[in-house]
Amino acid sequence: MANLSTVYMGMKLKSPFIVGSCSLTSDMDSLRKAETAGAGAVVIKSLFEEQLQAEAVRLENALSAYENMIAEALSFHPAYAHAGPSEHLHWIEKARKELSIPIIASLNAVSPGRWTDYATQLVDAGADALELNFFGIITDPQVSGQDALRAMIATAREIKTKVTVPVAVKLTPFILSPGYVVAGLDATGVDGLVLFNRFARFDIDIATESVRYQMALTSSRDMEHSLRWVSLLHDRTQADICGSSGIHTLDDVIKMILAGAGSVQLVSALYQHGMNYLSDLHTGLDEWMNRKGYDSIQDFQGRVSRSRSGQPFVFERHQYIKALLGIQ
Ligand SMILES: Cc1cc2nc3c(=O)[nH]c(=O)nc-3n(C[C@H](O)[C@H](O)[C@H](O)COP(=O)(O)O)c2cc1C
Repeated sequence: MANLSTVYMGMKLKSPFIVGSCSLTSDMDSLRKAETAGAGAVVIKSLFEEQLQAEAVRLENALSAYENMIAEALSFHPAYAHAGPSEHLHWIEKARKELSIPIIASLNAVSPGRWTDYATQLVDAGADALELNFFGIITDPQVSGQDALRAMIATAREIKTKVTVPVAVKLTPFILSPGYVVAGLDATGVDGLVLFNRFARFDIDIATESVRYQMALTSSRDMEHSLRWVSLLHDRTQADICGSSGIHTLDDVIKMILAGAGSVQLVSALYQHGMNYLSDLHTGLDEWMNRKGYDSIQDFQGRVSRSRSGQPFVFERHQYIKALLGIQ
């Protein structure tokens, strides 16, 4: 039996499989099944900044300014209208009591400010770590991409100074220069990076002539962007990298670890196959490692990363040029 333990955010996990933030982690039965099936950790569904803002906004009777953000939040969190921050804290407490694996609380962090005090309450409720889900669309033409990234880094820094538990940042895939952003985040001392998040799908309902947000499930085809950046960033950040988006099959998991991830988050695959699928992946990974003669995850983590290639330029450009020119 190979050793499937790994390190994420400086925490030792018994396996590299993490149940990503979604509605499955707001159900105790699913959480218990995840633990039994071998999950190394679970990320509880996000507490959205808008849930906190909405309380204040309701008081001011000015909800309209937040309509778009709330619609997006609702697509993730159908019970949002009723679930407030205190219910969320209670849920973290309950999950902590029931499970023995690490519980990661997730905050949908858009801007720095007073609301970040809430991070400490999540930790007081029992969260072993925090994941900051920087998920927001910048619609204000006065705000540049650079401003938005600075705000994100400032929020991460603020939260890092407030809590003693490890903090990870779940990045949006829509960043032109992830290496630059990761260097900025490194300076804040964040402990983990989740590459990448996935946006709710924007659509229009032609019957009601209204906007419709949907959280569509992914397939393995959606993994490529994350795989590329995991392999480009491995060994170039002090934070532990967790692969996310489009990880479905055993091959997907192995590729992510070869690229440099020490752990992977799964959501869509678990919606499609159920929590017991984790145990199949566990067995499959163990068999593959035995066949290959690997005793531990660290034995093959990052073997196909830019930093191990010895020829970074070739690694970054050659494949691209080869593909474009059709050279064999
Ligand atoms: C129904 C559903 C709810 C989700 N809720 C959250 C959430 O609350 N916070 C978050 O950061 N991501 C949320 N996500 C995104 C997932 O955590 C994950 O990043 C995304 O589904 C891509 O991973 P996958 O390909 O394994 O599905 C949600 C996804 C789904 C399908």
